[in-house]
Amino acid sequence: MTAVKIKNVNKIYERGNVHAVQNLNLDIKDGEFVALLGPSGCGKTSTLRMIVGLETISSGIIQFDDVIVNDLTPEQRNVAMAFESYALYPNLSIAENLAFPLEVRGIPLEERTMEVNRIAEMLQISELLNQRPGQLSGGQQQRVSLGRALIREPAVFILDEVLSHLDAHLKFQMLFELKKIHNSLGKTMVYVTHDQMEALALADRVAVMANAKLQQFANRNELYHRPVNRFVADFIGEPSTNFLKARVCTIEQKIVLEVNENLNFYPDLRRQELINEKGLEEVIIGVRPQYLTLQDGTGKESLTAEVLINEYLGERNILEVKNGSDRFRAVVPPECRAIQGDMVKLFYEPNHVLAFDPQTEVCLL
Ligand SMILES: Nc1ncnc2c1ncn2[C@@H]1O[C@H](COP(=O)(O)OP(=O)(O)OP(=O)(O)O)[C@@H](O)[C@H]1O
Ligand SMILES: [Mg+2]
Repeated sequence: MTAVKIKNVNKIYERGNVHAVQNLNLDIKDGEFVALLGPSGCGKTSTLRMIVGLETISSGIIQFDDVIVNDLTPEQRNVAMAFESYALYPNLSIAENLAFPLEVRGIPLEERTMEVNRIAEMLQISELLNQRPGQLSGGQQQRVSLGRALIREPAVFILDEVLSHLDAHLKFQMLFELKKIHNSLGKTMVYVTHDQMEALALADRVAVMANAKLQQFANRNELYHRPVNRFVADFIGEPSTNFLKARVCTIEQKIVLEVNENLNFYPDLRRQELINEKGLEEVIIGVRPQYLTLQDGTGKESLTAEVLINEYLGERNILEVKNGSDRFRAVVPPECRAIQGDMVKLFYEPNHVLAFDPQTEVCLL
């Protein structure tokens, strides 16, 4: 069992002078499933390659438990890895590719075959075992590559975009399998993706990265309800958060956020205090479309808006609406038949109104 500690780690690629990872600190617990999530180019793969030992660390320390691994080879670190590009041995069959890590460890043939069959079944590639990598589709090769990592018994699993080439249905099944594998092995796993659905479905905690820096490292509930900044509030959640510029007004000693002359938001007491403390004259409001609904209830506030689009998505609709020149979205039940030009009344709870400092884009928490 292994905890992975990343302390003040930087990665600078001399070629191109790219500062790909900046002062990264991550404390990954023993047996934890952590996802690194962020847009393309934010430094996810660079981070993984430093954990694995395929890339030098420009400065800082990486520890496996209490051992500093900066100068250890990938073999010495005992990590199993699978990458988006499959790196399979082209001249070996799929079965031989899968068995390779076991053969290296001197596992007897009979046991190897059993393990290969077990993994192949789990990843739905049993019928491909006698073929060569060149005969397989991208998604099939990706599962073989994943299987070759899973067949080992490493200290840590490192998986980089390993499901990116699968169709939605198969991806969902594989996510489920991975989760099961993690639950049964209890090994530390670090999983890289730019797909928030994968990250949130799999991981105990998600490290959200942007522009080479860690933005927030938290569980899905925290990321969703207490995003540290606008980037996280925008990146996490589907459809993404509505952001509206607002003027801070005081009416009868209460703080009201005025978006335009016909649209006010009423934040809860805690946020009113925070806005007061900061002395802000303007804020950016963040409200998730899921929290703007047609459902009234005690303690809820309301607003009116004009429907621009009612998008039918099966189990829910997304209403695109406007008030003055401000546009935003709301999630409504599929029964909602509002059409363009209709006026709707939308309700929200004051505690679902997030407020961001317009200069720093930091969320007031
Ligand atoms: N070997 C390299 N030499 C020079 N620059 C590199 C090298 N590898 C990556 N970079 C740069 O470092 C930055 C981070 O790249 P990295 O591959 O870590 O991003 P990523 O988050 O994995 O992106 P993606 O989601 O596209 O895989 C990018 O600007 C990239 O161009
Ligand atoms: Mg990458």
